[in-house]
Amino acid sequence: MSRRPHSASPAESSRLSKRPKLEHLTSEDFKNGVFLGPMVRSGTLSTRLFALKHGANLVWGPEIVDKAILNADRVVDPITGLVSYNGKSRAMFTTHPIEKPYFIYQIGSSNPDLAVQAAKTVMQDVSGVDLNCGCPKPFSTHAGMGAALLTNPDLLCSILTALREAMPPEITVTAKIRLLPTQEDTLKLVERIINCGVSAITIHCRTKSMRPREAALIERLREIVEFVDGLGKGIAVIENGDCVSFEDAKRIRQITGAHSVMIATAAESNPTCFSSEPLKDLEDTLVPAYIRLSKYLGNAWGLTKFCVNQFKGTRLRLKKTETQNLHQRLSVAKSYDDVADISGSGTGEDEFRQIEQAIASRPDRFHTVNNLAREVQDQEEEVPLSTPPERENPEPPSLNAPRGPTHPLRMIIPAGVSGHDAPTPTPGGGIPSVVAI
Ligand SMILES: Cc1cc2nc3c(=O)[nH]c(=O)nc-3n(C[C@H](O)[C@H](O)[C@H](O)COP(=O)(O)O)c2cc1C
Repeated sequence: MSRRPHSASPAESSRLSKRPKLEHLTSEDFKNGVFLGPMVRSGTLSTRLFALKHGANLVWGPEIVDKAILNADRVVDPITGLVSYNGKSRAMFTTHPIEKPYFIYQIGSSNPDLAVQAAKTVMQDVSGVDLNCGCPKPFSTHAGMGAALLTNPDLLCSILTALREAMPPEITVTAKIRLLPTQEDTLKLVERIINCGVSAITIHCRTKSMRPREAALIERLREIVEFVDGLGKGIAVIENGDCVSFEDAKRIRQITGAHSVMIATAAESNPTCFSSEPLKDLEDTLVPAYIRLSKYLGNAWGLTKFCVNQFKGTRLRLKKTETQNLHQRLSVAKSYDDVADISGSGTGEDEFRQIEQAIASRPDRFHTVNNLAREVQDQEEEVPLSTPPERENPEPPSLNAPRGPTHPLRMIIPAGVSGHDAPTPTPGGGIPSVVAI
């Protein structure tokens, strides 16, 4: 049966306006998917949007330490809709309402109160908050954050419990951990985490002491998944470690039984890897579009350059020397102007519109164009566009992004873009909410 569009009667309109603003994620939304993992520096808004366009079901933002966001100014660009959380001289975090239904904000914390404050600061712009319990880097662990939480389960659980209690039900709370050296200790920790009311748990299948180049211990996961299933709470277990593509996610799920798979490094190399047919010859296909979109969204050139220089895809038409030359040129470029011939004409608005359309055509049950439009409208009506002046705004260390919105006038230039990255097919057309893998 086909549904015909119709205008809402006054009665319908009033019913619509009384409905919850946006249906929200549940444990089920963390199942049967392939997700973009959290990545400091590399997990920029542009990367997340391209990942969504090319099939990622949910996207995690880079870890942001609790204190870093607390006193940021929230500013909405009236032209692009970009939301920036600005420190004194740069943006710590940028997002856009079109990613909100799929966006999980990751917090670095070792303090329940600060974690809750951080989550409250951003909750109007995110669908879920995730606690980083896996970062092994000293800057994280020396402050008791990241992987240090793995050996302090009381603190870990007190943060998750505080988050769950403080967040409204429409904001999911999740945790990302690593394996502990023994399976028995891992199972004990997982059980405690599940009992904190999380909607999902991501398990990076390496221990804290393992290096990224060591193969992930994915064979340890099946027992953990079965254990979580046996608890009967319907909580999703997300595998993370060594998945390189949408196709590979099927293999990983077969071996581990995990409900979903999260990809980080392979997505850093190619944010379209979530598609069954990821883009190839990235230097010709993705790079120009990525640069244009990043400029449109006010992303700092340094950060864009860093991300683009991580791209590494399969070459079909391009020669190795051609891709090397391009990366060399990018490495020495000091601004978007220096790469104008690489990015081509256009303001990036076309890329943005294509992504917006791809997201709007997702068959998800709750993310319809109408819902998104209504939500943006509601936000405009209800949410102040910037942080009240009485709030302090110190300068925490973070991304090197400029304060946003940076140059509002640049957005009004009409788009005349060539050389788009073609959307890659995803099973079922558009971007699936549930991918059969
Ligand atoms: C550049 C980079 C930045 C990362 N930043 C984070 C982070 O902010 N939070 C986090 O939990 N993990 C972070 N990770 C770890 C990944 O999310 C993931 O757990 C790890 O890379 C294993 O997955 P993979 O084999 O798909 O890369 C980062 C990894 C990379 C490569």
